[in-house]
Order: sequence, then structure tokens, then C-alpha cells
Amino acid sequence: MRKKIAAGNWKMNNTKAEAEALAKAISAVEIPEDTEVILGVPFVFLSAVKEITAGSKVQVAAQNCHQEESGAYTGEISAPMLTSIDIDYVILGHSERREYFGEDNALLAAKVDAALKAGLKVIFCCGEPLNIREEETHVSYVKKQLQEGLFHLSEAALDDIIIAYEPIWAIGTGVTASKEQAQDMHKEIRDMIAANYGATAAGKMHILYGGSVKPGNATELFGQEDVDGGLVGGASLKAADFTAIIQA
Ligand code: 13P
Repeated sequence: MRKKIAAGNWKMNNTKAEAEALAKAISAVEIPEDTEVILGVPFVFLSAVKEITAGSKVQVAAQNCHQEESGAYTGEISAPMLTSIDIDYVILGHSERREYFGEDNALLAAKVDAALKAGLKVIFCCGEPLNIREEETHVSYVKKQLQEGLFHLSEAALDDIIIAYEPIWAIGTGVTASKEQAQDMHKEIRDMIAANYGATAAGKMHILYGGSVKPGNATELFGQEDVDGGLVGGASLKAADFTAIIQA
């Protein structure tokens, strides 16, 4: 019933020419029937990538937005600005935003509300650092992120949410969570949704895995029952690699 989702997060990479070439290449990929492809693009290239992907099945995501609709926030981008250029999604709560820009759960809850109000869908990231995994308190760590950042929403609002579980120790490190570690955590997250919203909401939620997803490990990760696809950093910057991940 749930579709598979291959989402790329370009982070702060690509020049205009590189962004356009990559968007063109991914737009030309034959996307399987039950699969959705999303490109997470730097703000400055959103319009160009939206134009290039028009007419294809590829959806476009921003990598952040501000929690206010407008105002004196120099350098910031609001959710209504993104919908005004027909952007489909916004990635919120990425560990790099939490770590380098001090975004906490309360701020993220406000950003989620702003994004949904403007009509964006949200890819909401969660995931624990290495020391928390080693202490084996990762389940309660992620539970707190979801409870404080997401679970204030109504059940209906969850239809516009995708959760991405990205263990920080696996991001950009080449160390991927094993398929068992990914499945176990995704099942825990689905159980958290069930406990808060019931089994129907839990069954519908798309939960993506992120952290060193590559063509060589995508098939086994995406083959797990509760893994509905991936949020891919480095490998989404190479058309051939991301194409292979889409096909996985
Ligand atoms: P990598 O795929 O480069 O590990 O990055 C994962 C990520 O942070 C996606 O948001």
C-alpha cells in the first residue's frame, strides 16, 4: 500500500550548470510505477530545477524554511515563498540543521506547522548520534525528537509528512546501518506512530532511511518491511548512482 520513495538531498553542493545537468538526467530516468522521486535542492536552484522536472514524475524539495510567513528576517526563506514557486516538499530537522544551526525540537515543530499551513509536504528527519547509539538509548532519543517536533499534529496532517530516520553516525561516513538496525528502528518509529495515532496512521506513514545509502546497499535496505525508501546525500549527486538507487 505504501509507495517507495527515493529522495536526494544535495545539501550545499552543485553549481547552476551542475544542478541543471543533474536535474535533467534524473528527469529522464524511467521511474517505476509505485516509486516517487524527490530532489532536495539548494534555494537558488529551486526554480530552475522545478522547470526542468516539469512534466516528469520528479518532485522538488527545499532543504529548509523559516517558521514565520514573512517579515524582517534577513536572508531567510519562508514556506509561502516556496509554494509560490510550486515547490512540493521541504526537508526539516536534518541533523546538520540541528547541529550547525541550533535547530531544536520546539523550533522544528513551528517550522513543520508553517510548512503545512503553506501547503508544503514535509520530510521530517530524526536520528541519534554515535554516543547515544552506543549507550543503546537511541529509541528514546528518537522518540523525543518525534514527540516534540511532530506528534502535536492531527492524524489528518500526517498525510503530508514523510519521516526520514538518519542515524548521524551513518551520514557521510560510509558506515551504513545494517539492514537489521534500519528495520528495527523503523519498526520502533512505526510503533510510536501507532501508540499516538493508531494502526491506520502508522501503516500509512512513509519512513525513509538515510545515511550512506549507495547503489550497492539500497536494495537490501529498501527490501526491509518498514523501510519505504531512502534520503540520499552523497550518492544523489551522481546521476548514475541516484538512478541505480531509484531503480532499487
Ligand atoms: P549521505 O548519503 O551522504 O550519508 O547523507 C545522508 C543524508 O544526510 C541525507 O539527508
